[in-house]
Amino acid sequence: MKGAGPAIECEAVSRRFGERLALDRLTLSVERGEVLGLLGPNGSGKTTTLRILATLLQPHAGTARILSWDVARQPMEVRRSIGVMPERPSLYDRQTVEANVRFWAEAHQLPDAAIAVARALAFAGVADRREDLVGSLSKGLKQRVALARAIVHRPPVLLLDEPSSGLDPSAAAAMEGLIRDLAREGTAVLLNTHRLAEAERLCDRVAILREGRLLQLGTPLQVRAALLGHIVEVELAGVVDAPVRRAVESFPAVREVWWGASALRCRLLNAERDTPDLVARLVSAGARIVAVRPAGDLERAYLELMSQPLPGSLAA
Ligand SMILES: Nc1ncnc2c1ncn2[C@@H]1O[C@H](COP(=O)(O)OP(=O)(O)O)[C@@H](O)[C@H]1O
Ligand SMILES: [Mg+2]
Repeated sequence: MKGAGPAIECEAVSRRFGERLALDRLTLSVERGEVLGLLGPNGSGKTTTLRILATLLQPHAGTARILSWDVARQPMEVRRSIGVMPERPSLYDRQTVEANVRFWAEAHQLPDAAIAVARALAFAGVADRREDLVGSLSKGLKQRVALARAIVHRPPVLLLDEPSSGLDPSAAAAMEGLIRDLAREGTAVLLNTHRLAEAERLCDRVAILREGRLLQLGTPLQVRAALLGHIVEVELAGVVDAPVRRAVESFPAVREVWWGASALRCRLLNAERDTPDLVARLVSAGARIVAVRPAGDLERAYLELMSQPLPGSLAA
């Protein structure tokens, strides 16, 4: 490991394909132990970003680094530091699960390949299928094998291109759990996904791309607040009474409030900063709180962003 900087860094990275600008000055970073989700419609540059970071594609401008290694100038060091699950993991269907993962352990020249393979298969939950041909597995199990292959050399950085695409809800949830476990151990994870609910649960931060441009970057809460306003909904166990009203209406951070019989919605100056104080005030006023949640979800925020004209475009 090298350098104290972020695990993954893009600084004004651009990439063209012919006349088309697939990535336009992308800047972002991912810390160790962090999961960053890249969201965006088809063709917005998500796979291009991962392929640049994986040294499979050269940036035309800007700098991309993995653990401070420059992807263009130090590709060998970068490749040793990353695990990659590509859009279409090319597994050998006519070989066993174990052989597929062992092949990669050997490619990485791991000293204890057998132990590394066994550990990766166990982690991915496919140890009991090690003798099966990959071609005979379900899509969900194949994705687990692809993950086992990506982590067999225990890389500090993981690049995952739609790891749960095509999986049924329980297989997708299992994949989500595995990714969380890896992040908890300190792995930096950059993943592409179309599943907004998954991104909201799994990702510490999300980046939303459109036509190669970064439009939003932040925690799911920050992105929701930026696009949908800082509106918070509170449900109470009893009816709203005078002390509760006063507690909310006297709070300077409250811009607007809408009352229900046993609920309220209010617009705060800053949902992330002010929600804990709002809750404290409500509790002091004797309110019994059942639920507090930001209005709208990441999916609504995403759809809102996609419905706006692209900044700087002629329609804007
Ligand atoms: N190898 C390639 N040759 C030509 N155009 C490409 C190539 N790879 C990607 N593109 C183009 O770059 C843009 C971004 O693609 P991509 O990064 O695959 O998007 P995403 O993964 O977000 O769907 C698209 O317009 C796509 O057609
Ligand atoms: Mg893609």
